[in-house]
Amino acid sequence: METDNARQKRVFSGIQPTGKLHIGNYLGAISVWVKNQSKYDNFFCIVDLHSLTIPENIEPDYLRGKIREVAALYLACGLDPEESTIFVQSRVTQHAELTWLLSCVTPMGWLERMTQYKSKSSQLETVGTGLFVYPALMAADILLYQTDLVPVGEDQKQHIEITRNIAGRFNHLFGEVFKLPEAMIRESGARIMGMDNPDNKMSKSLGEKKAEHSIGLLDSPEEIRETIMGATTDSQKETRFAEASPGIRNMLVIYQALTDKPRKEVEEFFAGKNYSFLKKELTEVVVETLRPIQMRYKKIVADESYLEDVLQQGRKRAEAIAGETLEQAQKMMGIR
Ligand code: AMP
Ligand code: TRP
Repeated sequence: METDNARQKRVFSGIQPTGKLHIGNYLGAISVWVKNQSKYDNFFCIVDLHSLTIPENIEPDYLRGKIREVAALYLACGLDPEESTIFVQSRVTQHAELTWLLSCVTPMGWLERMTQYKSKSSQLETVGTGLFVYPALMAADILLYQTDLVPVGEDQKQHIEITRNIAGRFNHLFGEVFKLPEAMIRESGARIMGMDNPDNKMSKSLGEKKAEHSIGLLDSPEEIRETIMGATTDSQKETRFAEASPGIRNMLVIYQALTDKPRKEVEEFFAGKNYSFLKKELTEVVVETLRPIQMRYKKIVADESYLEDVLQQGRKRAEAIAGETLEQAQKMMGIR
């Protein structure tokens, strides 16, 4: 553990309990949380209220199961409840309450510019208001804890930016309440692409529908092998990061991020070899990375009371801090 001083820096992040958690979630988010957790005061949330923004995807038993699955995966990937506060968003009611206050100070124009809103809403017949105000809920998550750092994948950059803007606007209108957070995004591995289509980012919802799209954190070694062997390549033999085609580059990036080797070393290792060699080596690294995670996962989900204890304890810790911030915001607005 680091000095208390460093511990005063607060980290917040979360994942929605829908779809199939994949290697992109691990590299872009969870592995970064785990790597840094002893340095900071951490809050990791299972953001179930965000999942509700696409109600078509939700079914009560499914959602309940997914909340447990994501919580258990957090722990299995190495989050330690002694070091990190792990909790379910909907159980800390301040998230929903602050969202209302923040949405009242968030101009529609800011929300209309969100690329995630544009892409998600274009695929829906009916767009719920919740999907539109999604960024205000995410801002509430982050701002309730006076967060310094938000470790996320690259796709969330715009949401952190709007969080800063919302905080700034609130502070300007009503007085200083919120700290302005910063995104924490790894240099390489923050945007893993689909194995079947390297032009699109690997997605939890697509992965649930198409086995060949993603490498799931709970996939069996055989499934992992099949997905990687079937991944998109080209007819060349190019294994330099800068020159490689998108599918090959994606595999090089995953390999590099999982092995923590410098790019140059990875390039030298694969230079002149067939893509089947890259695929074989990558399969081995992925399987070996996920094996201990899957073993821990099995034990954790089997012990329902342990998981529930962790989430209860997390809720209490989160609530104490969230309650203070919400109260301040309410006072500043004159409703308390
Ligand atoms: P989501 O899957 O949207 O719930 O995202 C959960 C976390 O994983 C967020 O921090 C995302 O930025 C990150 N993430 C999602 N997809 C990817 C990806 N393909 N590559 C890297 N990070 C990702
Ligand atoms: N919007 C994020 C995603 O889809 C999930 C999320 C919700 C989040 N609240 C958050 C991430 C707060 C970081 C901090 O990936």
